Amino acid sequence: AEGDPAKGEKVFRKCAACHAVGEDAKNKVGPQLNGVVGRAWGTIEGYKYSPSLMEGAGEGRVWDVETLDAYLLKPRDVIPKGRMAFAGLRKDEDRADVIAYLSQYSVD
Ligand code: HEM
Repeated sequence: AEGDPAKGEKVFRKCAACHAVGEDAKNKVGPQLNGVVGRAWGTIEGYKYSPSLMEGAGEGRVWDVETLDAYLLKPRDVIPKGRMAFAGLRKDEDRADVIAYLSQYSVD
């Protein structure tokens, strides 16, 4: 089902302690997320990713909708030794909504 970006903005509050998105977004505990939907893994300059995430980057992995959905459900299922300390979003709808919200932000 299509996500609702307005609902996703509220879901993003769970991410915002560690991630910024939008104009002038800076890296925080996690990398900034502008343009993340469709973005290659591990490409934000000045952010130090885990070796586990960079291994996927080296394999050419991309944050497409399916990969994001799996990562936001259970980060460790996608990046076993990754550093994103987040329990995950158990509701399918919450993941679809936050992905729809993030889709609104392009790289610039
Ligand atoms: C990495 C999304 C919650 C900390 C990432 C990446 C994405 C993402 C897509 C990979 C980015 C890239 O490859 O450039 C989200 C979303 C969240 C969320 C949508 C909420 C639903 C959190 C929270 C924290 C966090 C709450 C901190 C407690 C991190 C860290 C990384 C990361 C440290 C780097 C992981 C590594 O190097 O292995 N996040 N995140 N994230 N996130 Fe999150």
